[in-house]
Amino acid sequence: MKIPFFDSKKYDINSFEQYKSHSVEFKFFETRMNHDTVSLANGYDAVCVFVNDVVDKPVIDALCEYGVKLIALRCAGFNNVDIKYAEGKITVVRVPAYSPYAVAEHAIALLLTHVRNTHKAYIRTKSYNFSLIGLCGFDLYNKTVGVIGTGKIGRIFIDICRGFGMKVIAYDKFRKADDNIEYTTLENLFKNSDIISLHCPLTEDTYHMINENSIRMMKKGVIIVNTSRGALIDADDLIEGIKSKKIGGACLDVYEEEADVFYEDNSSDIIDDDTLAILLSMPNVLVTSHQAFLTEEALANIAQTTVDNIKEFFDTGKCENEVVI
Ligand code: NAI
Repeated sequence: MKIPFFDSKKYDINSFEQYKSHSVEFKFFETRMNHDTVSLANGYDAVCVFVNDVVDKPVIDALCEYGVKLIALRCAGFNNVDIKYAEGKITVVRVPAYSPYAVAEHAIALLLTHVRNTHKAYIRTKSYNFSLIGLCGFDLYNKTVGVIGTGKIGRIFIDICRGFGMKVIAYDKFRKADDNIEYTTLENLFKNSDIISLHCPLTEDTYHMINENSIRMMKKGVIIVNTSRGALIDADDLIEGIKSKKIGGACLDVYEEEADVFYEDNSSDIIDDDTLAILLSMPNVLVTSHQAFLTEEALANIAQTTVDNIKEFFDTGKCENEVVI
C-alpha cells in the first residue's frame, strides 16, 4: 500500500519514515490538498492530510472517483473536512489525542511570555540592552482564568493554571457530570475572567464566539489565549477590542485565515492580509504558527496512531478512530 501525504514537512517525514515497511510506503507531497492538487491522489487507496488541507465536497467527489477509500487526518480537529458529505462515501479517521499536554503547555507558554514579556527581554539582552523599562508584567497568582471547553486539553490547562494558584472557572456546552471544575455560563465567564483560554472545537456554535458582543461583556484588560481554531475569534472585532484597550492582549497559535500563510516562510513577501498585518504590528499580540502540537512526543504519537488507523481500516474495514457525527 502506498499513501500520499499532503502538506508534508520535514518533521512529518522524519516521524513517519520509521513506519515504512514492505507493506506500507509513503509518498510525501509538499503541496496542500485542494481542488487543484487532489488529482495527485489518483491511483492511491488512502490519503493522509493535515489541518489546512481542503477536503470539501468537490475534493471528496474527486477522491471517490479515483477510488480512494480512506482519508486519514494526522491531527485531532476535522473542521477542514466535510464530514457530513463524506458519510457513506469515504471513511475519515483522525488522531483524537496525541499529546494534549503539548497544546496545553503551549497555551501556558504563550500566556507566560505575554504577561512577563520574556520575548521582548530575549531580543533586548541579545543586543546588550538590559533596560527593564516597558517589561513590567503581572502575577498569574490569584487571577481568574476562564476556560472554554473542558476536554482533554482544557483539563490539562486547568491543572497547570491551578499550579500557579489561579482561580479557574469554565464553560463547556457538553460538560461531563463531575467534578472539581467550577462551571458557569458563557456570559459569566466572559464577565469575570482576567484571562480567557479557548479549548473547544470549531463548530457552527463556536464560530466567532469571541466577537464584538462577547468582548463588550469582558473585563477591561482581559487576555485571550487561542490554541484551538482561528475562526473561534472574529479577528476584526479582536483588533477593535485591543485598540479600545478593552482587551489587554491576545496570544494566538491559530488564525482564521492561517491556511494562506502559516507553516511557510513568507519573510520575503509583502503581507497580503491587512488583518494579520495589524495583529502582528500590535505589541500585545503574540502569534505562533499553529505550533502548539509540535513536540517530539506528539509527532511520535501522531505517526503511530495514523499508521495504526490506516492498517486497522484496511485489515478490518473499520477503525476505532473514525470520525462520525
Ligand atoms: P476534546 O474533544 O477533548 O475537548 C473539546 C471540548 O470542547 C469538549 O469537552 C466539548 O464538550 C467542548 N465543546 C464542544 N462544543 C462546545 C461549545 N459549543 N462550547 C463550549 N465547549 C464545547 O478536544 P481537545 O483534544 O481538548 O482539543 C480541543 C481543540 O484544540 C480541538 O478541537 C482543536 O481545534 C484544538 N487543537 C489545536 C492544536 C494546535 O496545535 N493548536 C492541536 C490539537 C488540537
